[in-house]
Amino acid sequence: MKVWKPALVLMMAGLSGQVMAANCSVEISSNDAMQFDKTSISVPQSCKQFTVKLKHSGKMAKNIMGHNWVLTKTADMQGVASDGIAAGLDKSYLKAGDARVIAHTKVIGGGESDTISFAPSKLKAGEAYSFFCSFPGHSGIMKGTVQVTK
Ligand code: CO
Repeated sequence: MKVWKPALVLMMAGLSGQVMAANCSVEISSNDAMQFDKTSISVPQSCKQFTVKLKHSGKMAKNIMGHNWVLTKTADMQGVASDGIAAGLDKSYLKAGDARVIAHTKVIGGGESDTISFAPSKLKAGEAYSFFCSFPGHSGIMKGTVQVTK
């Protein structure tokens, strides 16, 4: 017992260090100028859950300058955005039950925020993922890439 106990303590210290090293959350801000403050984020697969907090630092209402944060494969982004237009604000401009949507916040207006979590295990290393705002007309500018890391 006495021989290997220090090794166990060292191992546990190493493990907790590992957990702290992985950044399992990100805060993204949006504004009245139709912009996100980030164009790329990293999602470590070592995180059990990854949390995204979306803020809207502007003053405009969500029916005028609303923003959400939607995660899809990059190849699905365009289709999800155009299919979402008809869904309307109440459905966060996303088609009901759209299986291409991996995670999303609701649409928020100035001064609001929304936080969501998803399991990075849903993402495949080597696949191209993007995030964007599905408010009609926003995804051309409000988008960024997602790097799946270890
Ligand atoms: Co938007």
